[in-house]
Amino acid sequence: MHNADVDVTMPRASHSFDRLPTGKIEGDIDLIKSPQRHSSSRFEPSSYTEITKLPSFDEVPADRRLELFILKVDQCNVMFDFNDPSSDINGKEIKRVTLQELIEFISSNRFTYTDEMYKHVVDMFKTNLFRPIPPPVNPIGDIYDPDEDEPINEVAWPHMQVVYEFFLRFLESPDFNHTLAKQYIDHDFVLNLLELFDSEDPRERDCLKTTLHRIYGKFLSLRSFIRRSFNNIFLQFIYETERFNGIAEILEILGSIINGFALPLKEEHKIFLARVMLPLHKVRSISLYHPQLAYCIVQFLEKDPMLTEEVIMGLLRFWPKTNSTKELMFLNEIEDICEVIEPLEFIKIEVPLFVQLAKCISSPHFQVAEKVLSYWNNEYFLNLVTDNAETILPIIFSALYEISAADQNGQMKMTDDDDLQSISSSGNWNRTIHSLAYNALKIFMDSNPILYDHCVLLYHQSLEENKKRETENKQKWALLEERVQKMKQENGTLS
Ligand SMILES: *[C@@H]1O[C@H](CO)[C@@H](O)[C@H](O)[C@H]1NC(C)=O
Ligand SMILES: *[C@@H]1O[C@H](CO)[C@@H](O)[C@H](O)[C@H]1NC(C)=O
Ligand SMILES: *[C@@H]1O[C@H](CO)[C@@H](O)[C@H](O)[C@H]1NC(C)=O
Repeated sequence: MHNADVDVTMPRASHSFDRLPTGKIEGDIDLIKSPQRHSSSRFEPSSYTEITKLPSFDEVPADRRLELFILKVDQCNVMFDFNDPSSDINGKEIKRVTLQELIEFISSNRFTYTDEMYKHVVDMFKTNLFRPIPPPVNPIGDIYDPDEDEPINEVAWPHMQVVYEFFLRFLESPDFNHTLAKQYIDHDFVLNLLELFDSEDPRERDCLKTTLHRIYGKFLSLRSFIRRSFNNIFLQFIYETERFNGIAEILEILGSIINGFALPLKEEHKIFLARVMLPLHKVRSISLYHPQLAYCIVQFLEKDPMLTEEVIMGLLRFWPKTNSTKELMFLNEIEDICEVIEPLEFIKIEVPLFVQLAKCISSPHFQVAEKVLSYWNNEYFLNLVTDNAETILPIIFSALYEISAADQNGQMKMTDDDDLQSISSSGNWNRTIHSLAYNALKIFMDSNPILYDHCVLLYHQSLEENKKRETENKQKWALLEERVQKMKQENGTLS
């Protein structure tokens, strides 16, 4: 029963997350205010940094190699000053070459790893990488735009990178025995590793992602602890700080974890979806991790379609009211969800969903309207909509009709009906939108002409009613004004 979550696969490479439109929507100031650190991490250089190259592995007899391995690992505990590029160039090169030799050695030799090896390797990893991530320098914040500003890179990266690589090879080796390693790779180790995810250097976060993912895969006993720690990071991010650099990377790990959840889903996982995954949609900096978040949500729905209603209602609750950049992200997510949604689940959410989509179709932001209308190009979506046209068409009819009936100048084509001109006020008369809306309507017209005609009729009736109400209102006002005038005159004659 404990192999519940065994199947851990990495989500498709991160390039599958490049589907968001990069262009910004005019009128949005797309700036994320988030303080940036002004320098790379500081490592304390070791006081004695003179190191000499140890012999290579093939220069010593086979029975001395393990001993040499430990010596070499320990030598890598010497830390250099990378802020000064000219300091101890020779020592830096020796350490780099030594790390490469270690990688080479464990990749090309098979032998039983000793307890001593785990201890020294984990210690060396900690010495080289565990450090406080400096807090952001300016608490009020420089304006930081992740699309434009270069992230701060770690100056010690030439060494950090090989340390990460060596550790990963060590973890992945078939000789690695987690039973022995777990006394060194423990809760504390995981917590320290997670703190590093706030590193500003995306190269480091990428290494951390792979490292933690492997640890999750190998150490069954750490899994629930790792998930709980993720939970804490997310909650603090959502409700307190709204900033943490590694949210996207953690979500990426999570995507593959969800993928391996056993069925039926544990209650714990459902609660996580409701209390953490959905509220992640309301954070201002959502653009930094939205593709990974949407991937997780879709993974959940593929596991358990019964969660669809909760997810859609959650998205509708957090739906952005004024920010069209954010709105486009939500629409991308709805599109992904619609590709996996089960017809019976679709029926449960179609009314609230299409009330929102109708608003988006009428959006003054042409990209928002275009996104919704592009759903109609997807055959699966099209089938869902035409199968449920009786419910859906009445909700979106006027939005579609008002756009498709207009030409690009905002004039109504159907001039045989003068009333139409007065209601075309949203001003969204792009030729592309116009033809997309027309095509969408045409599909309803062809697949269900009776319903379509009925909607046209209802639409005109409601226009009539609006007009009548307007006339009545005008008459009431006129009457009122007349009375006021009369009273004024009466008052005038009195005084
Ligand atoms: C709109 O949302 C995006 C994504 O969350 C964010 O980067 C941007 O700052 C927001 N724009 C405004 C004007 O709030
Ligand atoms: C791992 O180490 C433990 C404890 O020494 C041992 O019992 C177990 O057989 C080892 N597993 C493998 C696969 O070598
Ligand atoms: C109309 O849509 C196209 C893309 O389909 C866009 O490039 C263009 O700027 C839009 N025109 C107006 C006036 O919004």
